[in-house]
Amino acid sequence: MFLSLETIATVFLALADPVAAIWPIPNHIKTGKISLLVSQNVAVTYNDVPIAYTYGFEPNDVWDSVQIVEAGVSRALSAIFQSGLVPWKLRPKNSLNRFEPDLYSGPGWVTSLKIIASGTASQNSRFGDMNESYNLTLNTAGIATLSAFTSTGVLRGLETFAQLFYEHSNGNAWYTPYAPVSIQDQPKYQHRGVLLDVARNWFDVQSIYRTIDAIAWNKMNRLHLHATDSQSWPLEIPSMPEVASKGAYRSDLTYKAEDLEALHKYAVARGVELIVEIDMPGHIGSLSWSHPELLVAYDAFPYFWWCAEPPCGAFKLNSTDVAKFLDKLYADLMPRVAPYSAYFHMGGDELNANDSRLDPGVGTNATDVLQPLLQKFVSSNLARVAAYNLSAIVWEEIPLAWNVTLDNDTVVQTWQGESSVQMLTSQGIKVIDSNYNYWYLDCGRGEWLNFANGEAYSTYYPFGDWCNPVKNWRLVYSHDPADGLTDEEAKLVMGGEVALWSEMADETNLDSLLWPRGSAAAEVLWSGNKDLLTGQNRSQMEVSPRLNEWRERMLHRGVRAAPVQMVWCTQADNSTECSAPAGPGF
Ligand SMILES: *[C@@H]1O[C@H](CO)[C@@H](O)[C@H](O)[C@H]1NC(C)=O
Ligand SMILES: *[C@@H]1O[C@H](CO)[C@@H](O)[C@H](O)[C@H]1NC(C)=O
Ligand SMILES: *[C@@H]1O[C@H](CO)[C@@H](O)[C@H](O)[C@H]1NC(C)=O
Ligand SMILES: *[C@@H]1O[C@H](CO)[C@@H](O)[C@H](O)[C@H]1NC(C)=O
Ligand SMILES: *[C@@H]1O[C@H](CO)[C@@H](O)[C@H](O)[C@H]1NC(C)=O
Ligand SMILES: *[C@@H]1O[C@H](CO)[C@@H](O)[C@H](O)[C@H]1NC(C)=O
Ligand SMILES: *[C@@H]1O[C@H](CO)[C@@H](O)[C@H](O)[C@H]1NC(C)=O
Ligand SMILES: *[C@@H]1O[C@H](CO)[C@@H](O)[C@H](O)[C@H]1NC(C)=O
Ligand SMILES: *[C@@H]1O[C@H](CO)[C@@H](O)[C@H](O)[C@H]1NC(C)=O
Ligand SMILES: *[C@@H]1O[C@H](CO)[C@@H](O)[C@H](O)[C@H]1NC(C)=O
Repeated sequence: MFLSLETIATVFLALADPVAAIWPIPNHIKTGKISLLVSQNVAVTYNDVPIAYTYGFEPNDVWDSVQIVEAGVSRALSAIFQSGLVPWKLRPKNSLNRFEPDLYSGPGWVTSLKIIASGTASQNSRFGDMNESYNLTLNTAGIATLSAFTSTGVLRGLETFAQLFYEHSNGNAWYTPYAPVSIQDQPKYQHRGVLLDVARNWFDVQSIYRTIDAIAWNKMNRLHLHATDSQSWPLEIPSMPEVASKGAYRSDLTYKAEDLEALHKYAVARGVELIVEIDMPGHIGSLSWSHPELLVAYDAFPYFWWCAEPPCGAFKLNSTDVAKFLDKLYADLMPRVAPYSAYFHMGGDELNANDSRLDPGVGTNATDVLQPLLQKFVSSNLARVAAYNLSAIVWEEIPLAWNVTLDNDTVVQTWQGESSVQMLTSQGIKVIDSNYNYWYLDCGRGEWLNFANGEAYSTYYPFGDWCNPVKNWRLVYSHDPADGLTDEEAKLVMGGEVALWSEMADETNLDSLLWPRGSAAAEVLWSGNKDLLTGQNRSQMEVSPRLNEWRERMLHRGVRAAPVQMVWCTQADNSTECSAPAGPGF
């Protein structure tokens, strides 16, 4: 790789002065040491037209790029001026005054933010594979310029812009200490997401909005809503209202059609695509509350012969009634999803062959009988999705455990590890990776099952869960889904998702489980986890101060992200103070 002297200088500067703490780290960033103040009167233009900004502005047309940008500006300025960060926790104790500009010395001002998006209207308003690259500069005369090809690129750049600023401890001034700034940035992967399971526990729409906010701040672009499972069906299907009213934990704990539409629009306005999953043919037991005749093995005992987790329940695999139900379900849901998303997730994980032993239409668990039935089941669903010009996503078991042939645009989501990614990409299949060894954020907090006294108790003591241990941010950060693949294979990795399965999560601990560990994956997916210059792993000494700061910024903006380290570490002169020695003895 050829490196200009300028690039090398940039990197040395970054090492010497790691405090330009942008998260995720931009591909190319150069900062200086001049402080500039910024006021709420900074002049903002979009393609040379002045942009008004009103706090809390939400576009009423989420395909109007001017409104999208106006709302993005409103959020960025709100982050600076209303949720401003006084970084006392991030500087040595009682030394903030050495970091803050002296307001009496007459520092200069950021006078304008000039936003330019050169793309066409359709590029600006189309979800799916979006060009999110942007350039951001701030010169010492106080002129900021943000350029992008799409309004989504503008949104990404505005999030970076907001992170350049701090609130002064006097409470009445805001500044950046980093001028001049020059940033060139674009994502490494096109799919950077969070999977939220809203079926094992209920999450109100406010907590989902908040999660979409944090996804966008982290420059992620997908929210995968695992909307139904065997435990509950909270997603309203208006043509079959009984499905949710009976399948939800309480008949009113449902996402109404208007809730789903509002969530989609809220996401689109932030450059995020909400992807709905209805998991099937397994993981569908909650349908037994409204349509028991379509299922087998609901609440079957002992559960582990029939599924991975009680109360089981799978579709009959050779039933015309199931086919009729699915026609109705897809006809209801697809037209509501299609305006806002390019994908629909058809599920397909953990189908237990034994379920079909209980199916009067099948009566066996023999794979040579089941495979053709499952192929037909999946192919019918692929056709139902394709009819609305959406691409399907399925879990890895569908092709890998069942040899089901997919459409050429079907994306497969992996969770069982690196070899799954390799097996699929080597067959030319596009992959979204959620390797549970790294990116399952629910792991490591012990079992939710109870164990009776005696044998069960002693067998399972000390009650660790199946994907123990916890995935610390460092472990999350160490995983790049394309590691170990050939270049050809790596091209088929669309990206990844961190997953929050919610057996032991709900609104109360959502934020602290997702953030900032999800941010670690967000940086891997946006910038990679390797230093661009050396190709070596980015050092935790460089990453942790930025993550500490990013956690503070998220906290100030209303997401209760967990602490990364104790304040003694965040206030240390440098991050080596809180580091472990190499070798034994630790
Ligand atoms: C974004 O679009 C520009 C202009 O068409 C192109 O040069 C650039 O490579 C694109 N970037 C990405 C990441 O697709
Ligand atoms: C950013 O700057 C680079 C280098 O000048 C240029 O190639 C690229 O097209 C610019 N991207 C945008 C979004 O303006
Ligand atoms: C299927 O059920 C039998 C008991 O009938 C059990 O031994 C076997 O482990 C089950 N298979 C799976 C994959 O759970
Ligand atoms: C199929 O069922 C038989 C019992 O009928 C069981 O012994 C066997 O383990 C089952 N196979 C699978 C793959 O579950
Ligand atoms: C599926 O159902 C059809 C029609 O009832 C029947 O003819 C066929 O034998 C069944 N297939 C299997 C594998 O049981
Ligand atoms: C799907 O796309 C085709 C070709 O672009 C178009 O003719 C058709 O109307 C679209 N169907 C739907 C349901 O949007
Ligand atoms: C899938 O194909 C592999 C390799 O051909 C074979 O070993 C396996 O038994 C097949 N599985 C099913 C469920 O058909
Ligand atoms: C994918 O399949 C569709 C229809 O089955 C076909 O028109 C298209 O050319 C295929 N695309 C690729 C890349 O193979
Ligand atoms: C870089 O990270 C990879 C993945 O975690 C790890 O296997 C490797 O040992 C690390 N390299 C160094 C030099 O620490
Ligand atoms: C980090 O800080 C400690 C304590 O102030 C100091 O002894 C050490 O030299 C510093 N290390 C670096 C690399 O600056």
